[in-house]
Amino acid sequence: MSEFETLLVDERPDRLAVTLNRPQARNAINLAMVRELHEVCAELERRPRPLLLTGAGDVFAAGADIAELLERGRDEALQGINSRLFDRIARLPLPTVAAVAGYALGGGAELAYACDIRLATPEAVFGNPEPALGIMAAAGACWRLAELVGRSVAKQVLLGGRRLTAAEAERFGLVAEVVPGPELAARAHALLDRMAKSSPAALRLTKLVLDAPGAHPVADDLAQAVLLESADKRERMTAFLERRRSS
Ligand code: COA
Repeated sequence: MSEFETLLVDERPDRLAVTLNRPQARNAINLAMVRELHEVCAELERRPRPLLLTGAGDVFAAGADIAELLERGRDEALQGINSRLFDRIARLPLPTVAAVAGYALGGGAELAYACDIRLATPEAVFGNPEPALGIMAAAGACWRLAELVGRSVAKQVLLGGRRLTAAEAERFGLVAEVVPGPELAARAHALLDRMAKSSPAALRLTKLVLDAPGAHPVADDLAQAVLLESADKRERMTAFLERRRSS
């Protein structure tokens, strides 16, 4: 991948680890970062791999860049600058993990909500202070957060200005696990290691079916039909059975 201005990318054969890297602005998401994250998405759509997203320093991301937001108007809102990016991230073929150290506020929180799984340090804080700036959280929080933690807690965050600590986020199911800062990256990579052992096609179809709205037994059956016919499934199951026979 090309050199980035706002991201650090650790590209490996079985994953991409991307660090939001504008520490001087607490990793605030500006247009350059949006553009660069679209490039990351394009790469992952071309060559599907799990994605690990994290923030440089002791912050995940302090939101959309407020200096840019100040100058944005109706036309920019209708372009869905952040919402379309976060939707694209949510629809990436293979799982996405956000490793959140410190603040994930505003658009930073929405970016974390768009990932499939979140890990956090004890210092992590999730919040959507947009109304205090005269705007709303319009890049997915109004529905994604409600899906993740329920409408009651989502309303406390979005309307009541409640900030969720890491422990609260874990209790509400927003965060899978709270991990001390120095262990966060290793723990997140261990999660991706587990994913890397699974069949990419099985993960991809599971994610598609899981994220499809409503009940969809036909989609489940169709996805399974594809997987049951794969050579990869035959190899994996045969290896399992042969291991048992030889032990
Ligand atoms: N957009 C643009 N710049 C931001 C920013 C944002 N969302 N968040 C922080 N910055 C900048 C600050 O303006 C400051 O710039 P400066 O050094 O040129 O003055 C720099 O990042 C450091 O911020 P500071 O507030 O001094 O850091 P902190 O460690 O004391 O506090 C936060 C961190 C995240 C609590 C605080 O920066 C904050 O509240 N940010 C805004 C959060 C927000 O409202 N997000 C919603 C946006 S929709």
